[in-house]
Amino acid sequence: MARVALVTGGTRGIGAAISKALKAAGHKVAANYGGNDAAAEKFKSETEIPVYKWDVSSFDACAEGIKKVEAELGPVDILVNNAGITRDTAFHKMTLEQWSAVINTNLGSLFNMTRPVIEGMRARKFGRIINISSINGQKGQFGQVNYSAAKAGDIGFTKALALETAKAGITVNVICPGYINTEMVQAVPKDVLEKAILPLIPVGRLGEPEEIARAVVFLAADEAGAITGSTLSINGGQYMA
Ligand SMILES: NC(=O)c1ccc[n+]([C@@H]2O[C@H](COP(=O)([O-])OP(=O)(O)OC[C@H]3O[C@@H](n4cnc5c(N)ncnc54)[C@H](OP(=O)(O)O)[C@@H]3O)[C@@H](O)[C@H]2O)c1
Repeated sequence: MARVALVTGGTRGIGAAISKALKAAGHKVAANYGGNDAAAEKFKSETEIPVYKWDVSSFDACAEGIKKVEAELGPVDILVNNAGITRDTAFHKMTLEQWSAVINTNLGSLFNMTRPVIEGMRARKFGRIINISSINGQKGQFGQVNYSAAKAGDIGFTKALALETAKAGITVNVICPGYINTEMVQAVPKDVLEKAILPLIPVGRLGEPEEIARAVVFLAADEAGAITGSTLSINGGQYMA
């Protein structure tokens, strides 16, 4: 059935692939973004998916943004919490600003985005919440205490909320991507990628954004109602949790 889907950080990288795949699956999609207007406009003209700018680390901005999306497209049935940032540095050099920015954007956003839609989902007895965590939330990563803590938090959030919403027809799942072929990873020097990263990945290649998007479409389906509280690792075999 066609549903209304809202994807945070849905105009670039993995989020853009998710927005496009949900649209191709017949859903009405809204793509949120944070600040890159040029990328959002390009995405909008290429896909005809409406874009909405607000900061997912602000509860008030999320509540207001979701109100606008719901007024224009209808109640949100599928929420994909994908927006995320990195502020990498060794912990002994990490500033409070670097810690807070990552925690608020990558973990706080799950509260900020999900809280305004959950009562409507409960009342309608249907909802799909899909959180995009990371392999580094499962295994930890040097220079990413802030990011790994936030992404591990996304997994705990998923499991607890899945328990609370199971009887209301709402599923909550989390996807943990490994290295995915986005601008962020393309910026890594070629020799570092070939010598230090690819050897860690048993399938011998980066994942593609479309491979994450495919899993989101699967979890978002009406037919996926028995899948809840699950953690789906999509990392080419790099880490088997
Ligand atoms: N790429 C990977 O290899 C990889 C691996 C594991 C997990 N992940 C996770 O997958 C998700 C997507 O990653 P990506 O590589 O596709 O990232 P990306 O290319 O950097 O895109 C990030 C998206 O999030 C949006 N965003 C960032 N901060 C925001 C904020 N405060 N409010 C609203 N939107 C915000 C950005 O908006 P603007 O365009 O306006 O900046 C952009 O649309 C993230 O949660 C990331 O942690 C990625």
